[in-house]
Formats: sequence, structure tokens, C-alpha cells
Amino acid sequence: MNRHIKDSLDRPLRDLRISVIDRCNFRCQYCMPAEIFHENFQFLPKSELLSYEEIVRISKIFASLGVKKLRLTGGEPLLRKNLSTLISELVSIEGIEDIGLTTNGVFLKKHAADLKAAGLQRVNISLDSLDDVLFKQMNGRDIGTKPVMEGIAAAKEAGLGVKVNMVVKKETNESQILPMARFCKEEGIQLRYIEFMDVGHTNGWQLKNVITKKELLEMLQAEFELEPVEEDYFGEVAKRFRYKGTTTEVGFITSVSESFCSSCTRARLSANGSLYTCLFNGKGHDLKSLLRSEMSDEELTDFIISLWNHRDDRYSDERAAGTRKKQEKIEMSFIGG
Ligand code: GTP
Ligand code: 5AD
Ligand code: SF4
Ligand code: SF4
Repeated sequence: MNRHIKDSLDRPLRDLRISVIDRCNFRCQYCMPAEIFHENFQFLPKSELLSYEEIVRISKIFASLGVKKLRLTGGEPLLRKNLSTLISELVSIEGIEDIGLTTNGVFLKKHAADLKAAGLQRVNISLDSLDDVLFKQMNGRDIGTKPVMEGIAAAKEAGLGVKVNMVVKKETNESQILPMARFCKEEGIQLRYIEFMDVGHTNGWQLKNVITKKELLEMLQAEFELEPVEEDYFGEVAKRFRYKGTTTEVGFITSVSESFCSSCTRARLSANGSLYTCLFNGKGHDLKSLLRSEMSDEELTDFIISLWNHRDDRYSDERAAGTRKKQEKIEMSFIGG
């Protein structure tokens, strides 16, 4: 039986973001600064990662509670072995309508065809710059844009839906705002500009480094004619516009300047099986121990219902209102964004 549940602010549970690994081949300054995530950094040992069997079991429970959309994240999810095997099991879960993957794209050339064959529908690929020197600086590794470009091409070739995510940071990659728009428009790809967010404790976030949607839109409108596009579904993260006379869209993810907590339907599962009810709420709920105990599916379901019913997170709204509580946060790479 499907039970659709609401949290204390009347928000349903619709999406589950699943981090499959906490490691990444990049060290983006705004996410995993190399000074902190250094050579000796202790990532999760394999035994701590949820197995695919455990991920499938928990996803089935979430689907029975109204989750329709799954998104696989990391770290870099394609560093987890045989990800296609997991996807092929997730797609057959009753109630799941949409499965996406958020990736830096480097390994897509190798995996795009397998992922598509397993049933993956779409990928969101991060790319912050078309300029090689700047891109290398931003990703903290000596990796230029070429493998990402090849990843984008491979994903399109395989028939996967492709969006590009660009985190915009003042005095870092402002120069790339228009070139990225031109490139993605030309390719017919939806580009989403993401306002730099204060996730975790390590990325040195300051409000003055944020370029807002309003500023971005003004820059774009000086060159392109744009028309707003209606929301696709309740709780959609990006605000979208269409280049007039085309079917190509451009989006803005405005956690800082226009928070979207009132329609937030997302739960997040970390690679070691803790459940988080907000990207900015570091209080995880240890589902792994429950999964590895004698608990039945019924009992696990009740646990999740109770957790969701009590949920009152609205961090971005509180940030905007200046009422945000001092609370423990969680790193972006651990929770998968
Ligand atoms: P689509 O299903 O394609 O719309 O994916 P998505 O935008 O939900 O996922 P993606 O992993 O591509 O995330 C894009 C950006 O949105 C990342 O920076 C995420 O951290 C951010 N994001 C996603 N969900 C939330 C949320 O609930 N709150 C906040 N503040 N940011 C979010
Ligand atoms: N602010 C905004 N977006 C971020 N991402 C990672 N760290 C941040 C941050 N501090 C983005 C990545 C990826 C997505 C999952 O989150 O670039 O596209
Ligand atoms: Fe890796 Fe993505 Fe974080 Fe960059 S933003 S370090 S690619 S997980
Ligand atoms: Fe949801 Fe928290 Fe993001 Fe608000 S800040 S939209 S509650 S994840």
C-alpha cells in the first residue's frame, strides 16, 4: 500500500537523493578544498558504504511513501563500481518515474552507454568554465575541460538527457557566464547557473561571492531574448527561461537570493546510510544500523514516516530572513548536493 506522507510544513516526500560514494576525482574549491580533502583524508571505508542491496531496499521503502524521483550523487558517483547494476535495479521499483545522475562528467565517455542501457534517463554534468586554465584552477586537479566535453558528447550520443550545472562564484568564474550560455545554447543543452551556497564548513563561503539570479539574468538579457517557463512540477529546484524562438532553456538555482524551501520535497541519503532532511542540517539519522539490524521493512517505514512528519527544515528561508539557527552542517561532497 502506498502511503503519501507530509512533513510538519505540509511538504510531501517526493525525491530521494542518494550519495553512493564520498570520494571524488576533483577538488573543487567550493566543495572539497584540497587543503582539507588532502592525500591522507579519511574517506569512508568500503564496509561503511551502503551496499547496492541496501540501497535498493531503502529505495523501495521510500517509493512506498511517495518518492517518485531518485537522483544518484557522490562525491563522484561514477567512482563507485558497477553503478549500472544499481540503476537497473532501481528502475524496476514500482512508483519510481525518474532517475537522474549528477556527475562531473569525466567518466561518462566510458560509462554513458552502459548507464543508458541500464535505464538511466538523464545526467546533470557540472562544468564551471570553458577556459582550461580556470577550469583546472577550480577543480583543484590538473584536468582540463576535454574529458568533460567528451563526457557531454558521449551522454548525448547515448540518448541521455543532459543538463549542465555551473556554480557561479564572484571573482572566480564570472568571465565564463556568457561563454557558457553561448556554448550550451549552441549545443541545445539546458544550462543551470547555481548560486554559490554556504554548504558545510570548509568552502569559505561569503555572501559577497554570490552572484544572484537577478544579476545573471541581467547579463544574459543584454545578449539574448528570454521568456519565463512554467514550473514542470511542484518543488522544481531551478527557475527556467527559454531562449525566444528556440526550445532551449536556461535555469537558475537560487538557494541564496530566492529560497525555495516551502516546496522542498527532498530527502538525502549519505553514502554511509544516514538520512538527512535538509542540505544544511547536519543531523543525520543512521538508517544503516537499522538496515543491518533485525528491523523489518514495516518498522523501517514507520521510522521514516515519523522522521518526515517531524521535519521542519527551511534553512535557506531562514538565511534570507536572517533568522537562521547556528546548527551543525554537513559537507557537500558527503551529502551529494
Ligand atoms: P533536476 O532533477 O535535474 O532538477 O536536478 P537537481 O537540480 O535537483 O539536482 P542537481 O544534483 O543537479 O543539483 C543542482 C544544484 O541544486 C546543486 O547545487 C544542489 O546542491 C542544488 N539543490 C538541489 N536540491 C536542493 C535543495 O533542496 N536545497 C538547496 N539549497 N539546493 C538544492
Ligand atoms: N554551492 C553551490 N553548488 C555547489 N555544488 C557543489 N558545491 C556547491 C556549492 N558550495 C554543485 C556541484 C554540482 C552539484 C551537485 O552541486 O557543482 O553541480
Ligand atoms: Fe567533486 Fe562535484 Fe564536489 Fe567538484 S563539486 S569536488 S566534482 S563532488
Ligand atoms: Fe530543502 Fe533545506 Fe534546501 Fe530549503 S535549504 S530547499 S529545506 S534542502
